[in-house]
Amino acid sequence: MIKTSNKKSEPTIFIIFGGTGDLTRRKIMPALYNLFLANWLPTEFAIIGTSSTKTSDEKYISDLLDAINQFSRNGKAKKEEWEKFASHITFQDADLTQAATFKPFGKLIEKYKKQWQKTPSIIYYCAVAPRFFCTIAENISKSKIENDPATTRIIIEKPFGTDLDSAKALNKRLLGIFDEKQIYRIDHYLGKEVVQNIMAFRFANSIMEPLWNRNHVENVQISVTEQIGIGSRGNYFDNAGILRDMIQNHLLQLLCIIAMEPPTNFNADEVRDRKVDVLKAMRKIETGKVESMSARGQYSSGWIEGKEVLGYREEENVKDNSNTETYAAMKLHIDNWRWQGVPFYLRTGKRLFKSASIITIQFKEIPHNIFVSEDAAPPKQNRLVISIQPDMAIRFQLQSKVPGLEMNLNTVDVVFDYAGNKKTDSPEAYETLLLDAITGDQTLFMRADQVETAWELIMPILNYWEKNKEQNFPNYSADSWGPENAEALIAKDGYHWFNLPDNK
Ligand code: BG6
Repeated sequence: MIKTSNKKSEPTIFIIFGGTGDLTRRKIMPALYNLFLANWLPTEFAIIGTSSTKTSDEKYISDLLDAINQFSRNGKAKKEEWEKFASHITFQDADLTQAATFKPFGKLIEKYKKQWQKTPSIIYYCAVAPRFFCTIAENISKSKIENDPATTRIIIEKPFGTDLDSAKALNKRLLGIFDEKQIYRIDHYLGKEVVQNIMAFRFANSIMEPLWNRNHVENVQISVTEQIGIGSRGNYFDNAGILRDMIQNHLLQLLCIIAMEPPTNFNADEVRDRKVDVLKAMRKIETGKVESMSARGQYSSGWIEGKEVLGYREEENVKDNSNTETYAAMKLHIDNWRWQGVPFYLRTGKRLFKSASIITIQFKEIPHNIFVSEDAAPPKQNRLVISIQPDMAIRFQLQSKVPGLEMNLNTVDVVFDYAGNKKTDSPEAYETLLLDAITGDQTLFMRADQVETAWELIMPILNYWEKNKEQNFPNYSADSWGPENAEALIAKDGYHWFNLPDNK
């Protein structure tokens, strides 16, 4: 993760399973192309896209160009640059379920080795439905194509399992073929620019550490709200729900970065050890407390930005009487010295009023107010607000005197924002993560125990929600801030969900 110059890395071969899929088109190829443009890819690299339907290199490359033109943060590709990049791409068809069809990959790897006269790193990228993750790993092993722990890596997309047992089973099968050091489990939130900056902010500034604990922090909120619905993902989402889709991975990882102890160095395992410590210290949610510690919701129809949108149960491939949650909120506790007594509130949902990913650290009230007057409200509590997206900013909310002859206070924001940089200057999460995979840095990838411990934490809620159907679904309308029970969850502790810009 620490890279100070675009020093070229080792020769690399990418083999992308799911090479014609949505993820490849939207994220993986634009990320590789942008790394290429910024001179981060090694001089010797090859991308082999694969899928079961045969196609020519030319057709494959021209389809990818359409994708780049549509999805790259740098806009449309320039002819000359694209042609240079495209000269590194080939297509090879393969049936994921048939080891014999993997043999051509072996031949291609040999070809590049001869051509480069070097031993390349080989990255197998599983950009496919989760049910194929193990099949691919097993067929790599059966077909005896390159699997040397020193030079090969496998990237696994989310979701990693559907519950604790399936995640354990998946880990076991993968670890029967690859070493942990070879497995790169993606949680793309960890590659986001502001998320990476949280570590710099916490551990490269001496003023933060004394404040970062139960003595000064009153509560922490992690909120990832989305305006989009589930679109065409009904098949997947209706079996998953937002607890699995967002909380088990993205939100809990954000929580770990906020709550972790300072690592002694920036090694992948040291950082990940400190994150797992947080998950292990989280108070187990007892079945009897699920109702009081969590809230779930499902959207009904409504209007978003002037357009009428469907309710969740009317979406394509969703059951008419679906009980799947599209919104979840919960309150968590970390039982350790740093955080004892500080509630952590998490919320996330689809079809909400606004898309915004924000972490709010609310500090305690001042111990004694000296600015007492009849018509003045007491000073508001300080907040540190970390906006991950769409705004990228870190702001301190402080109290300050309003200029004038009276002593009146108001809230001012001391802001570090990325607005000064062009939006296209910040690398996308996938660029960071792919470069890390190329250079063999696992810091921002999930280790087996991280994934399992996160599942362990949410299993009581998953089980309870599955057994006890919510009778009031749908219970929030599209374009709202979510269900009332989520407001109640936090209001009963005397707080409210923080939204930007905040006027409360
Ligand atoms: C994915 C979820 O992991 O993250 C989606 O499966 C969600 O449901 C997406 O919309 C959000 O990612 P981002 O980067 O757009 O915030």
